[in-house]
Amino acid sequence: MSPRPLGVCFVCHGNICRSPTALAVMQVLVQRAGLQHAFSLDSAGVSDEHAGELPDRRSRSAGAARGYRLESRARRFERDDFARFDAVIALDHDNARRLRALAPDEAARAKLRLLREFDPEQPGAHDVPDPWYGGAEGFELVLDLCERACAGLLAHLQQHRGLAR
Ligand code: 4NP
Repeated sequence: MSPRPLGVCFVCHGNICRSPTALAVMQVLVQRAGLQHAFSLDSAGVSDEHAGELPDRRSRSAGAARGYRLESRARRFERDDFARFDAVIALDHDNARRLRALAPDEAARAKLRLLREFDPEQPGAHDVPDPWYGGAEGFELVLDLCERACAGLLAHLQQHRGLAR
């Protein structure tokens, strides 16, 4: 890996369900691979409605049952964040659209991807569905999709050291 840690930020709507889940999953995968030194991981939301809050208790308890600790505090992704990260990973199309509109230039837009592009079981432009208004199964699905796609993302970043396709 490169000497400078690779900055990766997961971004959803509120930064209290999906992106904290992706962050917690990626932290475990990176740790298991012994690559903590090689990554700087974070999460954020396109909205600031929940700024300062811990992740939703439904996400925290579903994650805890699989051994993940969701401890981030919600914050909005700001335009300056594009300069701080090498990869900005949107959880769904709406998040990606809003990030693209916020990006200051082409270099920033080149850092944007959808998480499920890296889902080895179903690669493509798929969403991690928003679980906010649904039942417990939605939170399990978020975990399943994040586990698959974060493993794919880590493999990609290890191979390419960036987002080159
Ligand atoms: P997230 O889920 O984007 O995965 O954090 C949501 C959390 C809150 C809302 C929507 C989605 N909300 O409308 O307040």
